[in-house]
Formats: sequence, C-alpha cells, structure tokens
Amino acid sequence: MTHRLFYAYARHAFVAALRMARVTTGSTVLLPHFICRDVLASIAAVGATPMFYDIDDDLQVSQNTMLPAATAMLAVNYFGFPADLARLRRQLSDSATMIIEDNAHGWLSADEHGVPLGTRTALGITSFRKTIRSIDGAFLDWNSDQLSSEIASPIALSTRTESLPLSYRVRTLVSSIDQRLSLQLMGIARTNVRRLRRLTGAASIDERAQEEWQLPEHEAVHQSSLERFQRTDLLAEVVRRRNTFETCQTLAQRFNIQTPTTQLAPHVSPQGFPFFAGSGETDAFRAAITQSKLGEVVGWPSLPSATMLGISSKLRTIQLVNFLR
Ligand SMILES: Cc1ncc(COP(=O)(O)O)c(C=O)c1O
Repeated sequence: MTHRLFYAYARHAFVAALRMARVTTGSTVLLPHFICRDVLASIAAVGATPMFYDIDDDLQVSQNTMLPAATAMLAVNYFGFPADLARLRRQLSDSATMIIEDNAHGWLSADEHGVPLGTRTALGITSFRKTIRSIDGAFLDWNSDQLSSEIASPIALSTRTESLPLSYRVRTLVSSIDQRLSLQLMGIARTNVRRLRRLTGAASIDERAQEEWQLPEHEAVHQSSLERFQRTDLLAEVVRRRNTFETCQTLAQRFNIQTPTTQLAPHVSPQGFPFFAGSGETDAFRAAITQSKLGEVVGWPSLPSATMLGISSKLRTIQLVNFLR
C-alpha cells in the first residue's frame, strides 16, 4: 500500500525516510559524490555518517566499484531522468541496504514502464517546488508492503498558513508577468542581484555553508504550496517540459553542446535541459536559450565539502536550462 506525507523541503522528507529505513546514530548512508551539499543536513539530523559513491558522466552509478554495506543509500533521479535501479542493485554488496529514491528534481516523471519516479522503492522523496513555483513543497512516498510492519508511519504535520513574505510575492508576480507577456524580467533581476553582490565583494551566489548540517527551519508545508500543487494541470506541464527539452536538444546539436541526458524516453518529464558547459559553443548556446525564452541557465548548487568528485570531472561543469517558471 502506498502513502504520502507533505513537508516544506525534501530534506525534511529525507529525515523521515532515513528514520523509516532504521538509520540511526553511527549508521552509514551511501550517496553520490555529485549531490547538493544541503542534503547532508538530513543525514546529520539522524546522527549517521555519509559515504560517497561514484557517478559516471551519464549520471548513473559507476560500474567500476562495488558499493560497501550500508543501512541506506540515496539513488538520485537527476533532473527527472530515472536512476538505473537494476544497475545500482547489482553493485550493492549488501542486498539489505535500503534504497531511498531521491526524486527531488522529478515530480511528474516516470520510468520506462510508466511507474512514477519516487515510488519505485520502499521510500522516495520529491521536491515539487522545483517543478512548480511555490514557496516550499516536498513529499515522502512510502510503500508499507515493502517495509517491516514494526516501522511506525511519520505523523502528518498541519500546513502553515502565515502570510507569504513580500519578496516571494514579488517574485511570483514578476514570474506571472513574464509568462503572460513573454518577458524575462525575472532573469534580468537575478543577473543584477548577482552583479550587485560582486560589486559589494560578496560571492555572486549566496553561499550558506551551514546548510550542510542545518535543516531549514519550517518542516510543515505551506498551505499555498499545497493549493498550487493541487491545481497544477499535470498533463500540460509534462507536455510543456518535453517540448521545451526537445527545442533545447535541437539548439544543443546546432552548437555542438554535449548533454548527459541524450535520450528523452517516453514517460520522462525533465526538470530542465542539463548540459556540459565548455563543450561546443557554450556562449552562443546560452544566448540562443535566453533569446528563445526557454528557461534560466543555472549551475549545480554547491557540492558537499567532503565530496571526492574528481577536480576534472565533467560533472563539475554541468549547467541546467531550468524549465521552472
Ligand atoms: C538531488 C537533490 N536532492 C535533494 C535536494 C533537497 O531538496 P529540498 O531543497 O527540497 O530540500 C536537492 C536540492 O537541490 C537536490 O538537488
């Protein structure tokens, strides 16, 4: 039987998933070297130790290594493209390791059989705020048939209803003007904020090192995010994402840009179009993306300080044409 509970962030859902996977103080959790560092805060919250595994340039687990025994492992569906779970399982040295599907990027996406990502293992986490514009929004999916009956279900939290911050309301308004009038005010504003930060000597992106061990304050999802979630036209969103991906693919071919996700399988709903910056004519490609209003080009968030991702790994150059609007 499948169950779902909402949270403010996928990191909170991940804490609940880790507890259900019986991860406790001293347990080991496997996660890829290529991961955003704030995910580590969930592992820290349950007192466990992270252990990193290798990911190839195709965003799948590297075939070269057997994965050591661990209580749980995180399998990431990067950018809404399904992690190859069969390949992962073949490389686990302990078949009892609980696989938690990290579907932070992939709400609405499904695998080759049409099975929604985030529901392919006993426990899955999804951050729907990365797919639709909402102040927060994530959920935990679990399948009680695949878990021991002794494991208690997490308790549902009441939604938050406080008024939304002005900065968020302005961003939402600007985004809806952009959509209606086909403008790019949001992108322009963001570029200017970054410029201003550089001028004042601050890092261009807000670097919050403490995110590696500190979870976001609010655990409960905001009511407005749930309403936004419920009124989303799911089919239209998937169609828009797939069409935008195909347009990006055509531009990428024109400018000889390499992507880790060469195939758009039938049920995939991509978070965006990932590409290797530095391959082909990157500047011309970025300019064409901006001109065609396909999405904002963003970098990968900061990696964990302890990551051993090779300094020359192509994964370090990944950027994303983000389809969030
Ligand atoms: C792969 C991955 N997993 C989990 C998360 C955490 O999601 P949230 O910010 O909703 O906690 C992120 C955040 O960027 C992510 O990229």
